[in-house]
Amino acid sequence: GSGNASKLKFAGIDGVANTVDDVVVPKGYNWEPVIRWGDPLFHDSAEFDPENQTPESQAGQFGYNCDYLDIIEIQGSNGKRGVLFSNHEYTNENIMFPPDMDISQVRKTAMAAHGLSVVEVERKGKGQPWKYVRGAKLNRRFLMDTEYELTGPAAGSDLLKTKADASGRVVLGTQNNCAGGTTPWGTILSGEENFNQYFKVSAPTDEQRRYGLTNTNPSRGWHVEEPRFDTDTPDGKNEDNRFGWIVEVDPFDPTSTPRKHTALGRFKHEGANVTIAKSGHAVSYSGDDERFDYLYKFVSKDTYREGDKKHNMSLLTEGDLYVASFSGNSPANQIDGSGVLPSDGAFDGVGHWIQLTRNNESLVPDMEVDQVLVYTRLAADKMGATKMDRPEDVEINPVNGKIYVACTNNINRTAAQADEPNPRANNRHGHIVEMTETGDQTSTQFAWKLLLVAGDPEMDESVYFNGYPADQVQPLSCPDNLAFDSAGNLWISTDGQPGTIQRNDALYRVTMEGPEMGKVEQFMAVPIDAETCGPVIHDEDGLVFVAVQHPGEDGSWDKQRSLFPDYLPAGTPSGKGGLPRPAVIQMFKGKNGFVGR
Ligand code: FEO
Ligand code: CA
Ligand code: CA
Ligand code: CA
Repeated sequence: GSGNASKLKFAGIDGVANTVDDVVVPKGYNWEPVIRWGDPLFHDSAEFDPENQTPESQAGQFGYNCDYLDIIEIQGSNGKRGVLFSNHEYTNENIMFPPDMDISQVRKTAMAAHGLSVVEVERKGKGQPWKYVRGAKLNRRFLMDTEYELTGPAAGSDLLKTKADASGRVVLGTQNNCAGGTTPWGTILSGEENFNQYFKVSAPTDEQRRYGLTNTNPSRGWHVEEPRFDTDTPDGKNEDNRFGWIVEVDPFDPTSTPRKHTALGRFKHEGANVTIAKSGHAVSYSGDDERFDYLYKFVSKDTYREGDKKHNMSLLTEGDLYVASFSGNSPANQIDGSGVLPSDGAFDGVGHWIQLTRNNESLVPDMEVDQVLVYTRLAADKMGATKMDRPEDVEINPVNGKIYVACTNNINRTAAQADEPNPRANNRHGHIVEMTETGDQTSTQFAWKLLLVAGDPEMDESVYFNGYPADQVQPLSCPDNLAFDSAGNLWISTDGQPGTIQRNDALYRVTMEGPEMGKVEQFMAVPIDAETCGPVIHDEDGLVFVAVQHPGEDGSWDKQRSLFPDYLPAGTPSGKGGLPRPAVIQMFKGKNGFVGR
């Protein structure tokens, strides 16, 4: 393997067929779980008992479908102690619970399997794999009854007041957390994404429709257990407006109140990542993961103070919100929906950031600031932002400050709708946009190009890898999460390849500089039906981590498709195995740990 100056040496693996129920890693590498769904976090937590999970037992255990992930070394521990954060996007009731379990127990237990987890990890020293520590003092579960404080210009707005919360400032719980980001001041951001699926609404308003709330009966049935999720009841009025935010958590203070930042806008946040611009302002980038939705950034009013965490934790409460407008520089008739390069040799151009708010005031005609922040999609519609192909993770390259946006796919885009930043009709495989802000990241102007147009070059002539010969790379489809290693190489994890290139979802490294720029090598593949989430690349430590989300999700209790990560025998009674457990895993060279098979 190459990878510009990367400290992680590996021989890339081939794609793995979408029928394989295994974690595949490079030759000489090993893997093991750090923590799995159901692992007890506290001394008094119940042991995982898949046939008899209850809301109470689940509340003391690691949740389901881990997505965002970070592992931060605790200062002064000589590399021996760390804190792991993960969120729990959703649940797969069909494979989690015995079919004869009481329906109310299923709903409430699934509810307790959502949310966030903080857990301490320990190890013998640098370069060694981690183990989670049951009962450690930072361990914490964030559940649907955990209080979150709303901050920013929309906090206290009538749009956010409910029968149970006349202040419009305190929300119980977080829903459908997808990706996230770790701030320069050591807190964690997590994005509330497809919150619409938890709410019952019989006559959706235009605003609710724009957020995907439709007249259907939510299958998880939370509205039956808690009327606040039924917007047709007095308890449910406005409750949906209290989800769809960026959440900030301090993993080092287990008594802290997590917050939802209204200044960053409300949409289906994939996640958010923050950089400190040269000017000292904190700049957060966030994608709205929906077909034809937008890319946003927030610029803090105040500036970063090194070492002043209390001050820095106020940065996301006040500032300016922008949405992106992209223009191509190739004639429109060259962008015909086939996705093959235009005659100027690149999908590229310039763009600008359309400002939606300034100093807590709306810049959008006929909308007050709380309307702009609660109904951000409608504000961006009005201002003519560029409709993207499902913008997911947005990451800042720590080496060169450029911004990378994973547009995962958009099968609804027609040839007539193809434009230079979203050049493919029926975009099944997605692409990655590279943005270079003019000046620092507070700028309102940028240049952009497509870094890669994903897919299998054998099946699709439009595949493009930054100029690298497409027949010499590993096929890649549906980029979702992004990460950088210490040398500035881009790592891409995918969600959706089993359905597009018939390969298990995977993790790739892309060389970003030098003669091999654009080279794509596959590091690992996750088991059947799973999505590769969270990638954390600690190349200087020889460790790579991913969150394995929804393994075997197309199975049933009686017919499981995955037995990851323990590979205990299937069958009834399922005992302590016999079913998949979404888990955070670590990969490393050599035989330091066990192989979970
Ligand atoms: Fe939950 Fe946008 O992936
Ligand atoms: Ca061009
Ligand atoms: Ca995602
Ligand atoms: Ca995804």
